[in-house]
Amino acid sequence: FMKRRKKWRHYPPGPMSLPFVGTMPYIDFHNPHLSFNKFHKKFGNIFSLQNCWTNLVVLNGYKTVKEALVHKSDDFADRPYFPMYEHVGYGDKSEGIVVARYGHVWKEIRKFTLSTLRDFGMGKKSLEERVTEEAGFLCSAIKAEEGRHFDLRFLVNNAVCNMICTIIYGERFDYGDEVFRKMVTLFENSLSEEAGFLTQLLNVMPILLRIPGLPQKVFRGQKAYMDFIDVLIQKHMETWNPEYTRDFTDAFLKEMSKGKEAEENGFNYNNLCLVTADLFAAGSDTTSTTLRWAFLYMLLHPETQSKIHKEIDMVIGRERSPTMMDQVNMPYTNAVIHEAQRCGDITPVGLPHMTYRDTELQGYFIPKGTTVITNLSSVLKDESVWKKPNEFYPEHFLDVNGQFVKPEAFMPFSAGRRVCLGAQLARMELFIFFTTLLQKFTFMLPEDQPRPRKDGHFALINSPYPFKLQAIPR
Ligand code: HEM
Repeated sequence: FMKRRKKWRHYPPGPMSLPFVGTMPYIDFHNPHLSFNKFHKKFGNIFSLQNCWTNLVVLNGYKTVKEALVHKSDDFADRPYFPMYEHVGYGDKSEGIVVARYGHVWKEIRKFTLSTLRDFGMGKKSLEERVTEEAGFLCSAIKAEEGRHFDLRFLVNNAVCNMICTIIYGERFDYGDEVFRKMVTLFENSLSEEAGFLTQLLNVMPILLRIPGLPQKVFRGQKAYMDFIDVLIQKHMETWNPEYTRDFTDAFLKEMSKGKEAEENGFNYNNLCLVTADLFAAGSDTTSTTLRWAFLYMLLHPETQSKIHKEIDMVIGRERSPTMMDQVNMPYTNAVIHEAQRCGDITPVGLPHMTYRDTELQGYFIPKGTTVITNLSSVLKDESVWKKPNEFYPEHFLDVNGQFVKPEAFMPFSAGRRVCLGAQLARMELFIFFTTLLQKFTFMLPEDQPRPRKDGHFALINSPYPFKLQAIPR
């Protein structure tokens, strides 16, 4: 007991905790990374907070985040348990991937998902061809706007969602498709519900979930989204033939058919719904928001756009479709995409981690079961690494000879055991979609439109404020 008490003396410092609410009133939940930056300056790289009764430790700066996620990967690999998820279908042996506790079920499901994504072409030519084909559909839809002012959000989101649909259900949807629109709307509703204050409150005060009718009211959107996924999978099962594996769903169904042991490893129907919902959630808005940041920077920096046009004309020309092989010969375009990811900073506070065992970081004691926030924004904008941390400056990724370089602090996909599972797919989508669109169009800010804001707004991810543009065919 004395030994443990001594350890607690080395618990990270933080602002004074108030009765019941802890340090919650000090945090701006619409911009948590900005609140964290203030505490970072005051308390250093590692500080503690308290959300009601939950202890939180926030890690800041490249050195600290890397030390935790890479050098002490196991210690920081767990996820906090949120009782509210039980109301949207999470249970024993069915926790999806993203919020699954660190343990053998998560390991099995992650291993299976990664290898299945690879089987269906992640990082290979086959999936690249599908991305290229989708980029073609996206170009046609943009061309159909005929130079009118439009918000490319819906089209880009459709294109990106289609890549996940292709992997999971083996089919894409036309951009106007009713089922598809419904899915995207339900998904967006469920996301905004999850980012809401009430949900955050229920996270830290799960006792409120016992109020009759409250869970049904708070999670209405998420339930509707899960019900929709359920219908899609049921429909898919009607045409399933165990002899053939058409897509991710078929591969999962095949695992499920292996019996009790597979069931114990997380291959059950409920988990199939949760894993596919996770792949949609983690793999669609993230990539499409990054692309929107990239196009916003093109409007704000026309000189950068001209340089990319020149590079495309020189390396690819106007007719041939871009391929991943072109990337090595296009250092400037590659640098711009990386800088859009860095500056757009779409997951500023990452996803919450939890310590798997008692651990120590830079002399501080962090007990088992502590929620850990990795402030990725403080890494992507670390003043000791980046020359102009708060500006769009593609030269961050170019050496003196104009060759592409990637500083180690480029960590938008996080790192370690829970590193983004779809990073390879995301990189492929970002390069092919961005380069194809710039090969075919010049993007301009319409004359009658206000100059778009450079800052973002945060609801689980950091998105640009809505903006309109004009696409002029080249
Ligand atoms: C996790 C970023 C695209 C699937 C994450 C995490 C980040 C991230 C920061 C949290 C890692 C952590 O907990 O430390 C991004 C960004 C993307 C992107 C910036 C696009 C630009 C994708 C795509 C997919 C995907 C396309 C799916 C095919 C996942 C999954 C996890 C994850 C399943 C959870 C991994 C786990 O807990 O084991 N991503 N992601 N992501 N991402 Fe991505």
